Amino acid sequence: MTAPFAQHQAEIERNLRAWNGKPLLRNIYAGFYRRILTLIDPAIPGRIVEIGSGIGNLKAHLPRALTTDLFPNPWLDLVCDAYELPFQQASLSHLVLFDVFHHLRAPNAFLREARRVLTPAGRLILFEPYISWISYPIYGLLHHEPVARREPISRAESLPRPRDYYAAQGNATRLFFKQEIPGWPEGWNILHAEAFSCFHYICSGGYSKPALYPVRWLEALQKLEVKLSRWPRAFGGRCLIGLRPA
Ligand SMILES: C[S@@+](CC[C@H](N)C(=O)[O-])C[C@H]1O[C@@H](n2cnc3c(N)ncnc32)[C@H](O)[C@@H]1O
Repeated sequence: MTAPFAQHQAEIERNLRAWNGKPLLRNIYAGFYRRILTLIDPAIPGRIVEIGSGIGNLKAHLPRALTTDLFPNPWLDLVCDAYELPFQQASLSHLVLFDVFHHLRAPNAFLREARRVLTPAGRLILFEPYISWISYPIYGLLHHEPVARREPISRAESLPRPRDYYAAQGNATRLFFKQEIPGWPEGWNILHAEAFSCFHYICSGGYSKPALYPVRWLEALQKLEVKLSRWPRAFGGRCLIGLRPA
């Protein structure tokens, strides 16, 4: 996909409009943030930083987190690029990336930078799309970002050029669950890798499509999905990953 980098900012503006006008989305994301918070360990010294915060929702659930993005939107704390983080070595306790990892054309280049800024006990937390038998056609057909199930994933250790818009929704599934690159990620321990059913999210239409159900159904759907999550390869739609420098 070759779209200009500014495509991200156009999506941030669209997402903000959807967020403000769609209580269902806010409720669903509250559940996603609750999952992320389970991987935050307050005993680890250092700052918590979110990369690619977009419209900056994490702050409402984790007020001490520093929110950042490539674009200088007024609700964010800092402008920064995942590949060149403006933090000192071993100064951060957690890095959180929500739907950002699949926008990183060179995951190894980012992981190197993440390892530099995290304390030895620090954590990298990723929340991503998960590609299962059921979510594959849905993400593939209904979402503008490609799943890129068979595209090569760059192993570059340096800043990717050109800096254009990149998206490959399947990357976390391929790297963390299917382990397409044996031994990857070098220099990291995987603390947590969980995929779960997410029809309540998919059928909400997310940021770009209309919802297929009313808010009052959400709780019942989420309960049903606890059961479906036993079979993530069939029903998975989202995943949560936690890593620690080895
Ligand atoms: C799909 S949005 C997710 C936004 C937000 N985390 C959320 O969940 O609503 C992806 C975000 O990643 C940001 N992003 C993409 N590449 C980045 C990079 N190299 N460094 C920092 N942020 C990046 C984009 O600007 C965009 O805000």
